[in-house]
This record gives sequence, C-alpha cells and structure tokens, in this order.
Amino acid sequence: MVWEKMSVNVHLHNLRKRYGRQVALDGVSLDLVPGEITSLLGPSGCGKTTTLRLIAGFETADDGEIYFDRKQINKRPPEKREVGMVFQNYCLFPHMTVQENIAFGLQMRRQGSAEIREKTERILDMVQLAGYEERRPSELSGGQQQRVALARALVIDPAVLLLDEPLGALDKGLRESMQFELKRIQRRLGPTTIIVTHDQEEALTLSGRVAVMKNGKVVQSGAPKDIYDRPRTRFVAEFLGGANLFSGIVTGRKSDAFGCVASRRETFVFPWPEMSSIQVGSSVTCAVRPEHIHFGKPGEGDNSLSVKIADSIFRGTSRTYEAWPDGYDAPLQVISSSDRNQVTDMSYDKPINIYWNPENMMVLEEE
Ligand SMILES: Nc1ncnc2c1ncn2[C@@H]1O[C@H](COP(=O)(O)OP(=O)(O)OP(=O)(O)O)[C@@H](O)[C@H]1O
Ligand SMILES: [Mg+2]
Repeated sequence: MVWEKMSVNVHLHNLRKRYGRQVALDGVSLDLVPGEITSLLGPSGCGKTTTLRLIAGFETADDGEIYFDRKQINKRPPEKREVGMVFQNYCLFPHMTVQENIAFGLQMRRQGSAEIREKTERILDMVQLAGYEERRPSELSGGQQQRVALARALVIDPAVLLLDEPLGALDKGLRESMQFELKRIQRRLGPTTIIVTHDQEEALTLSGRVAVMKNGKVVQSGAPKDIYDRPRTRFVAEFLGGANLFSGIVTGRKSDAFGCVASRRETFVFPWPEMSSIQVGSSVTCAVRPEHIHFGKPGEGDNSLSVKIADSIFRGTSRTYEAWPDGYDAPLQVISSSDRNQVTDMSYDKPINIYWNPENMMVLEEE
C-alpha cells in the first residue's frame, strides 16, 4: 500500500457560531496553505476549538462557508471530510486498547480487517508505540496517550489534520522531542494542518504560518517572522513574545519608507507600512522587542536612549537587564546574549546608551 500525499487547500469564509447568547465565532476567515502547518493562537475562549470543530464537522456554522479545494463542505458529515483531529484532552476511548482506539476510524470507514491491521501497525511504528497494542489508555503515560491520539488522527490518512493543544500536557523535554516528531510525521504524510497552542514559541517553531485570534475573529495571520516583527496591533505584539511598550505621537515622514515618532524627549524612526492607518499626529503605541535592543556608545544608532541599569537576571544563554531611561515610569527590558554586551556591576549607576535599529521599531495601530 502506498501512502499518497494528498493535502487540500482549506478556505474559511466569515464563519459565525453562537452558543445561546455566547458568540463563539464572529466572522472567522482564513486560508490554509496545502500541506503546511498553521498555528492558531489566542487567549482562552477566543474560539480556537470551535473553529476546529467546525472544520472537522462536529458542529455546524450558523453562517459562513468552509471550502476544501473550492468545494463547499459545510453539510458534509465528519466521516466524509478526510479530517483527522487530536482533541484538546485527547479523548481516547478508555475501554478500548491502543490497537482498538487507532482502528476505530478505519472501522467507521468500513475498511477490511487486513487493511486495518496493516495501517494500524504502520502508524504505531511511526509514533514509536509498537508493542503497546494491547494496553488501555489508563496504562500509558501522558506522552504515550498523546501519541495514540496522534496515531488515531493520522491512521485515516487525513487530507486535513487538526491538533488542539496536542502537546499541552507534556513536560518541557518531552514536549520538545514531540515537536520534532510531529513535524517529521506531518512532513512525511503532508496533510494541511492546524495546530492550536498556547505556547507561542511552539507556534513559531512548528509552523509555516501563524493566525492570531481574538474574540471570535482572526486578527492577523502570516509567516511567523512577519507576525513577530510586524504585529499590527498591541494585542498581537504582546501575544507573540515580550515587548517594551511606550506611547508616542507620529510627527512626520523621514523618507518614503520610514516615519518619525516622538516620545517624551526622544524622536524615534520606524518603518511606515504602505497599507497602514497611521497618520501624522496620531497617538500610537510604540513597541520594541527586548532582544532587539543593544548596548552602545553615546549617540550610537538612530533610535537611542540614555538609561541606567537597575538590575539583571541571568537566564542561561542570555541575560535580561532592566534599563531605566530618565523620566520614564517603567524600565525597558533588554535581552543580551553576546559577551560583548555584558554590563559589569561597575556600570550599574552610570548612564549608558541603548539603541535599536529603525527596522525593529514597531508602531502599532489602534484596534
Ligand atoms: N458547547 C458550548 N456551549 C456553550 N458555549 C460554548 C460551547 N463551546 C464553546 N463555548 C463558548 O464559546 C467560546 C469559544 O470557545 P472555544 O472552546 O472555541 O475557545 P478556545 O479558544 O478553544 O479556548 P481554550 O484556549 O480555553 O481552549 C467560549 O466563550 C466558550 O465558553
Ligand atoms: Mg480550546
């Protein structure tokens, strides 16, 4: 038997879903790239699981459409959708063995017993659980249960794979090795994949695209680096990693691509996106990532500040500094990983210059 790669283009258009008065989805639109992993991120209750349940067909949308390769599939029952799903809490059948759990989807699809045996063996090998066929879920560790759930979703050779916080229950070490395993299996079988995660690092590591949700809507989607470097709003900037935030007023353009923003006594340069709603005179939130700030000589860099270092924390591969600019009511966090930038205890009370490149200055739109 040959396992063919068959991944589909998934297009969600303006999906709406209410539970009584509770609005779960308020117009979700999203395009998934065939064969690629998209991470769905967002705070608890923003509609991530609901989105997956609609794609899998376990719920129906009140409004909006779901397309697989331009075919509208809103009314198609779950078993006719070629979708594999790993549920937020695994949802293994407790009374069934590992083998029976995995075979269940194939039996639902009325496949023959020889074929079922071959496919379950193959998938058990893939998730490294050969030999565990006869155990029940209660006799497995969390990581092993997670792999059974993954095997159960993959065994039907899904065109679309939905993973709802599949690594949520695992400790850091197991989580990281499972991330590699997941990525390897996904690449080998090639389904169009959505992974829901609360772990933004996991999202940035695993996926080719990231979609950030808030209050039942996708507020920004794109390549992980673009979302990280060019968040449109404060919500997205803060949701994806640490950011130093301060307020400013846009004072004008510096060139076609760059603008100037004034904050207290300083003026900073920022990239002015073509399609942005920012205008001269707008009050904006400025943001800069801690790892984009460097220590330098006085006056070095277009965007610089004189600060005093108040404290620092050693974090193994890097050190995080608290840098107080004169007259600010909160310190900026600076993360430095290179020895060159280490500030010695001697200089804690002396003013020191920090700077960041204009490309790393984020000016955020109002939501
Ligand atoms: N069956 C249901 N009945 C009533 N309300 C529901 C139901 N399922 C979800 N909701 C509500 O819809 C909203 C979205 O829920 P959803 O489970 O999609 O959130 P989520 O983003 O997956 O959150 P989490 O990160 O906590 O898993 C929430 O306010 C939730 O309480
Ligand atoms: Mg959920």
